[in-house]
Amino acid sequence: MAFDIDMIKKVYSQMAERVDKAREVVGKPLTLSEKILYNHLWDGMPSEAFQRGKDYVDFAPDRIACQDATAQMALLQFMQAGKPKVAVPTTVHCDHLIQAKEGAAKDLKHANDISSEVFDFLESVSNKYGIGFWKPGAGIIHQVVLENYAFPGGMMIGTDSHTVNAGGLGMVAIGVGGADAVDVMAGMAWELKFPKLIGVKLTGRLSGWTAPKDVILKVAEILTVKGGTGAIVEYFGPGATAMSCTGKGTICNMGAEIGATTSTFGYDDSMERYLRATDREDVADEANKVRQHLTADPEVYQNPEAYFDQVIEINLSELGPLLNGPFTPDLSTEVGTAMTEKATKNDWPIKVEWGLIGSCTNSSYEDLSRASSIAQQALDKNLKTKAEFGINPGSEQVRYTAERDGILDVFEKLDATIFTNACGPCIGQWARYNDPKNAPKNSIVHSFNRNFAKRADGNPNTHAFVASPELTAAIAIAGRLDFNPLKDKLINEDGVEVMLDEPTGWELPPKGFDVEENGYLEPVKDGSGVEVVVNDNSERLELLTPFQPIQDSELQGVKLLIKAFGKCTTDHISMAGPWLRFRGHLDNISNNTLIGAVNAYNKKTNFVKNQLNGEYGGVPDTQREYKAAGIKTIVVGDHNYGEGSSREHAAMQPRHLGVAAVLVKSFARIHETNLKKQGMLGLTFANEDDYDKIQEDDTFNFLDISDFAPNKPLTIEVVHSDGSKDTIMVNHTYNDAQIKWYREGSALNLIKKQNA
Ligand code: F3S
Repeated sequence: MAFDIDMIKKVYSQMAERVDKAREVVGKPLTLSEKILYNHLWDGMPSEAFQRGKDYVDFAPDRIACQDATAQMALLQFMQAGKPKVAVPTTVHCDHLIQAKEGAAKDLKHANDISSEVFDFLESVSNKYGIGFWKPGAGIIHQVVLENYAFPGGMMIGTDSHTVNAGGLGMVAIGVGGADAVDVMAGMAWELKFPKLIGVKLTGRLSGWTAPKDVILKVAEILTVKGGTGAIVEYFGPGATAMSCTGKGTICNMGAEIGATTSTFGYDDSMERYLRATDREDVADEANKVRQHLTADPEVYQNPEAYFDQVIEINLSELGPLLNGPFTPDLSTEVGTAMTEKATKNDWPIKVEWGLIGSCTNSSYEDLSRASSIAQQALDKNLKTKAEFGINPGSEQVRYTAERDGILDVFEKLDATIFTNACGPCIGQWARYNDPKNAPKNSIVHSFNRNFAKRADGNPNTHAFVASPELTAAIAIAGRLDFNPLKDKLINEDGVEVMLDEPTGWELPPKGFDVEENGYLEPVKDGSGVEVVVNDNSERLELLTPFQPIQDSELQGVKLLIKAFGKCTTDHISMAGPWLRFRGHLDNISNNTLIGAVNAYNKKTNFVKNQLNGEYGGVPDTQREYKAAGIKTIVVGDHNYGEGSSREHAAMQPRHLGVAAVLVKSFARIHETNLKKQGMLGLTFANEDDYDKIQEDDTFNFLDISDFAPNKPLTIEVVHSDGSKDTIMVNHTYNDAQIKWYREGSALNLIKKQNA
């Protein structure tokens, strides 16, 4: 099942009617984004248009993609739903857990040695539940999705923020947390705040050293890392249609770096060429039949200001190559003297040590071919490369074809290390140093998307700059951050001055794509007999047991676990870094629960009072003692509690350890929903000042929990250690269905019950 043509035909067959109706409801011509959104409503067409940036809407995505790090907990949870198969086509891609060190062959073997239990689990659970499985080394999730699954006008969600890459093939593709993916796998709707719309008109044409990457680097400069928040960015104009499909993917991919919900492009000839080149003639034929619905109505692009919330125009003919960084992807500098000045002023090392080409952002055949045209010149002009080269092809199909066509050979002649077709340095899986924390200050250039401190190699002193693959190659050859390939000469090994010519390349392989073994495993038709492989002694994986409903009687005598002071993000609640290896083992990862939260009484982290013995200790240990004593606890927090990534662990861990309720001044919405899904109480102070009434030795009695109902505040009696009491009112946003989740112990328990 490379892709599901019947599903695509179904999406297209209903499009004309739905788009017509949506146009009536909205009352004006539609953008592409609106067409896709209104064509994927879970419930029928509304009587009024949704308000952008305000209304929460239920959608029915066509596909789901998961990467190996996030898939573990998502699939462990899905197993709880009691379904024989996933409700929508889903794939799992093993790309994050492979370290880049010595080169593809050795690194892949090493990854298979140390992470086989995770890969075996993912493979078996995929096989059992009808999920397509892409083995380690098969490629990076988003490149593989673009090559195999993305289709114009479709909607997909994925458990990775760069799922948005599929916008390059005209999708609305959005990165989500595992809990959302599980809902859709289990046959439930997926909720999203109806996005705002930003239009980006691309005029002119890319040429010379300027690449699609420079378009998004420019957009990042204009909008900054927050400018796209809550919005879909829709690109259009002659500059858009003149660009390759994978180039569009690069632009959409880095939409994540401006905070955009997603980005997309209308269906055009470049997408048709890409579909046909990647063996999807039938998808191209079907898309051609509904072509007019796979792009905005003509009036929209003629007068974009009337239809988008914000419009940006970029003339590609005037755009030059950019270098963004360090430490943030929106800090843009033109190549050459502007960089000399900035680097000198800010004390950025001018010398470049590595040029890395690849990641889901820029690892297409076109990217490798254009970068290799620069690398070839180093060979032809007898230039010695000053920096080291590392290459991560995006997929086995790209790697195989690039090898066949001599592209990889060019890099290898320059002593480049060809890493596995996987994320590698992009996700910090780069064994560059033995002791990264104490590694020296240095600069690197890469064609990836993120360049936060420590992102690539764990070294806080690495200054990472983001550029197109061809500029990355040129800078690696020159070994200088401020090298301007349009103007600067290099001295070759014969002492002769030479210049690099403009890059050239192939949008698609002239001899077509080829691959011997693409690394895909089709699930069996009937997975009922497949056993899911989890070793009982595993440190990294543990099958989940259903959460027991919290009984009303348990909500008397509840103890305060921690009153968190100030910011408490999902990272404070469930820290990342070294804990990531335990993502599939709820009990082990629970040992990081709330260790980053600041205790309001002593301003220390991971140091709270145990009311049972008066001693102070770490949050997880203290909580485990309450659990052993059969006592439920409450976490109290400040504003926007649970902001940050949508990590479901931040709700699952407290729940697993026996926390019954989280009471805060306000919630980040996704975290609040995650608490509800896990069958906990997520509550807010009716009167914010009551936060100050909560004392370290307090006990809580939920007086009217037996009457828990929508729109009805709850009453809590807070008993202080001196015997005095405060009675406080708390609000909640549970609807009827969510109260059922709570009463059943979790949303998945309810689904399972309904399936029984
Ligand atoms: Fe992997 Fe980096 Fe993309 S981590 S999915 S290559 S952003």
